Amino acid sequence: MKISRRSFLKAATAIGASLAWVGPARGSRVRWHERRDLYPQGVASGDPDPHSVILWTRRPFAQGTRLLLTVEVAEDEAFRRVIAHAQAPVSSAADWTARVLIGGLKPARTYWYRFTDTDGNGSRVGRTITAPLPNDRRTVNFTFVSCQDVNEGSLNAYRRMIYEDERAPAAEQLDFVLHLGDFIYEVVEYPEEVKTRYDRTIYEVARIPDGLKAGNFHVPLTVDGYRAVYKGYLADPDLQDARARWPFVVIWDNHEFSWQGWQSIQKAGKARPGQSIKVAANQAWWEYLPSRCKKVSGPSLESFDPPAITNVAIEKWDENGLGDEPNNLAAINSLIGYRSYRYGKHLDLIITDQHSYRSADPFSDPAAGAFGPEFPGMFPEDVAQVLDGGRAFNGGNPPAEVSFNSALVPNSQRNAPPQTILGAEQKAWFKDQLRKSTATWKIWGNSEGALDSRADPQNLPPGLTKETWPKTTYATLPIGDYGTAYRERAEIYGLVRDAKITGFAIVSGDRHSFWAGYATSELPPGKFDPVGLSFVGASLSSAGTMEAQEHNFPKTDPLRPLFLADRPDGAKPDWTHNMLLRHGVRSCLEYAKSFDLQRARSLSNPNLAPHLEFVDLGGHGYAKVRLTGNEMRTEFVCIPRPITRSERPDGGPIRYRVLHTAALWKSGERPQLKTSVLEGDVGLAI
Ligand SMILES: [Fe+2]
Repeated sequence: MKISRRSFLKAATAIGASLAWVGPARGSRVRWHERRDLYPQGVASGDPDPHSVILWTRRPFAQGTRLLLTVEVAEDEAFRRVIAHAQAPVSSAADWTARVLIGGLKPARTYWYRFTDTDGNGSRVGRTITAPLPNDRRTVNFTFVSCQDVNEGSLNAYRRMIYEDERAPAAEQLDFVLHLGDFIYEVVEYPEEVKTRYDRTIYEVARIPDGLKAGNFHVPLTVDGYRAVYKGYLADPDLQDARARWPFVVIWDNHEFSWQGWQSIQKAGKARPGQSIKVAANQAWWEYLPSRCKKVSGPSLESFDPPAITNVAIEKWDENGLGDEPNNLAAINSLIGYRSYRYGKHLDLIITDQHSYRSADPFSDPAAGAFGPEFPGMFPEDVAQVLDGGRAFNGGNPPAEVSFNSALVPNSQRNAPPQTILGAEQKAWFKDQLRKSTATWKIWGNSEGALDSRADPQNLPPGLTKETWPKTTYATLPIGDYGTAYRERAEIYGLVRDAKITGFAIVSGDRHSFWAGYATSELPPGKFDPVGLSFVGASLSSAGTMEAQEHNFPKTDPLRPLFLADRPDGAKPDWTHNMLLRHGVRSCLEYAKSFDLQRARSLSNPNLAPHLEFVDLGGHGYAKVRLTGNEMRTEFVCIPRPITRSERPDGGPIRYRVLHTAALWKSGERPQLKTSVLEGDVGLAI
């Protein structure tokens, strides 16, 4: 299957590329001398297909508004066999970033690239890899990562990833990095204002021009604000090295726009109309992260050209909870993030956007928030299901009130549309992609976790709390992602089951913790019916639940043993929270008393979490996936809390390495994970 120059040009025009076409190999014609200081954010490549990839750099100039760089692509690291040589415009309109689509490449090949200005000042050399052809049966290796806060941590995980990859056999080296969001945190702390948070030192990242202040956070409101954050993040040496080594495939989570925002509403504490802010966030994302995402301004890779937008309150919502307001629609459609990639015979990667189209948060009603105040972070699962279902709950007959023991509050979602994270249009596209997929593995790359996070406080012994948790109700904690998008999740999993789709697996981020298990619509007492695998990768650096609880959980709370088990010798507490989600309250209480793991696990509640094989709310690191025609291997590489940058070439020690293996199942069969600890101590995660 050979792509023609003509069809490449057509494809390139469709995504608006500055493009270069490959010719015969020859020596470099460029006088290149490396000046990394003139390319302060390094180089990158993105979204490879079998014949093309987008290359990226940033070369700011003090004078002029538009200048030309030369980009070269070679078959060797020394640039003796240069196969593409082209011009790459940089302009102040795109904050001096450059994108070039290189076409005519060979499939499943490694290439090297570099940029040079007219004075011979050169970028560092980057390396990229094209995708295999759709019928190529070779093994696919990728890593999925998320949440790289460099304001409060360091990216030792990338250093470890690079170190191991350089030493891995060729067939096991990573083909690409899938970044599932929180590439930046738009909420920026200044070290002179905040010295520490939890275990963290606050490091200088950026100064936000024309931003707002929300608590300790400086938040951008303009494109220059977001650009400042990207520049600060990309100054990180480990992130730069990772981008120079592998192509990245990237989707945003919440923090690329706004911490608690959704659609075009900006929210950091207080919500406000943020149409122009969403466009600014999209523009900076597009400028700094090379991808094939479609922008509304049409076919040019040179600049984003934002649509004209006014910030106005959204007053009308359609039947799917989409804000029916022209500026809102223009803002969220200014850049389309969802897309899919075929990668050889074994992978269809389907990527979705979890924030631009979602409906309003159904769980924000403060009245229901007062249910069970003695039970930290816990929310009655049955009430969560009612609120999630909105007016469609119970076949369109939602209850007028929701209850917890004798407390009754009006059902705030009785007339609201059922919760959707994907939104109607994206969901239709997503379902179509699933139905059409012919690859062995259909991997849903989404920024948010989909595994239920629940506990069984109904099994607590009497007397520990004043109020008793309702006997027939589980608790969900916390709420907000696909783990509590019961209705939408069931719709997707229902399609997977009904269309007899095998090899379905979810990889996600956002939770700042490692999870491995099964995609199931329901849990006991409902029907546990897994249709696929589901994973959450830990944060690369951002602080997680256990770090927060170590600092904030009240010492005298009678339910503390469900989250932290205090050792009599005063050592750091054990993370029983992992055990709470996997085995339940009885195991936690036993463990916190005796520290006898076997006895604690013997009290496991088998109906609590048949969907979970592994959960570590204190982990950091990355997850490596290896796909073949009959197996999916997912390896969690966990590193210690990344508080300071390791100067070691391997990025510092590892805490544990755990492998989750699943054989490809036939339609109608149940997927089955086998979990094995390859090295280190996983604590209470199993
Ligand atoms: Fe995050």
